[in-house]
Amino acid sequence: LAWVISGDPMTGFKIGGAEVVTKMILYYFHERGWYKINYGLDRRNERKKRMIRAESVSKNIIVQDFKIDSVKRKNLLSQNSVLIWFTGLSGSGKSTMSNLLESELFERGFKTYALDGDNVRHGLCNDLAFTEEDRVENIRRVGEVAKLFLDAGTVVLCSFVSPYTKDRETVKELVGKENFIEVFVSCPIEVCEQRDVKGLYQKARNGEIKNFTGISSPFEEPVSPDVILNTNSEEVQDS
Ligand code: ADX
Repeated sequence: LAWVISGDPMTGFKIGGAEVVTKMILYYFHERGWYKINYGLDRRNERKKRMIRAESVSKNIIVQDFKIDSVKRKNLLSQNSVLIWFTGLSGSGKSTMSNLLESELFERGFKTYALDGDNVRHGLCNDLAFTEEDRVENIRRVGEVAKLFLDAGTVVLCSFVSPYTKDRETVKELVGKENFIEVFVSCPIEVCEQRDVKGLYQKARNGEIKNFTGISSPFEEPVSPDVILNTNSEEVQDS
């Protein structure tokens, strides 16, 4: 068009060239933005699709029965298995509480196992980040592992941020609500941020960490937890 209007082919090529370069730059940033921003789309849909695929596969997988069941294992261990689920902000004291309770139970002869967000994310969940979709998958996997431990007759302690009510409810349903104790480790974000044991809040404020719970990612407080521990106002031992 520039060529036709100006009657000069060089002007046409220059304007055409400038247009191509500009469009490539715009296209690059558009794609990057599109990839990063959720645009309100529900990432859970991606998971649903994956589950539908998995369901069609599982039609060909038949569950095997074993002679030794959960009841026999619990009888042998002389204990009941239960899942104690600690939820709360990063730095609220979930791991501290889980650690302390496990030590107490262990001292009294209970067979226990503790699953912790920071540890599990170094192995089983080392392919997951902190997007909503990845957090959902993190909690799903942990729920399944906890279920196996319950089946083995163990007292399981899980300490995970687990910010979404729906995911905690899903775990509760998975293991049976009679086996699930939800513990809300409650602490104001200002206090967690002040503690900043791992220096992560500072990094999140500097924009070095994305999707940080309480800062750039939500935390849905439990509506009716079984236990509330106020780690801001109570001594660790009292809690
Ligand atoms: S969850 O949201 O998927 O339940 P999880 O409990 O496994 O999280 O891991 C949280 C731990 O990872 C925190 O204790 C914190 O040390 C670290 N962490 C690193 N990045 C983030 C982040 N963006 N949001 C929350 N915790 C983070």
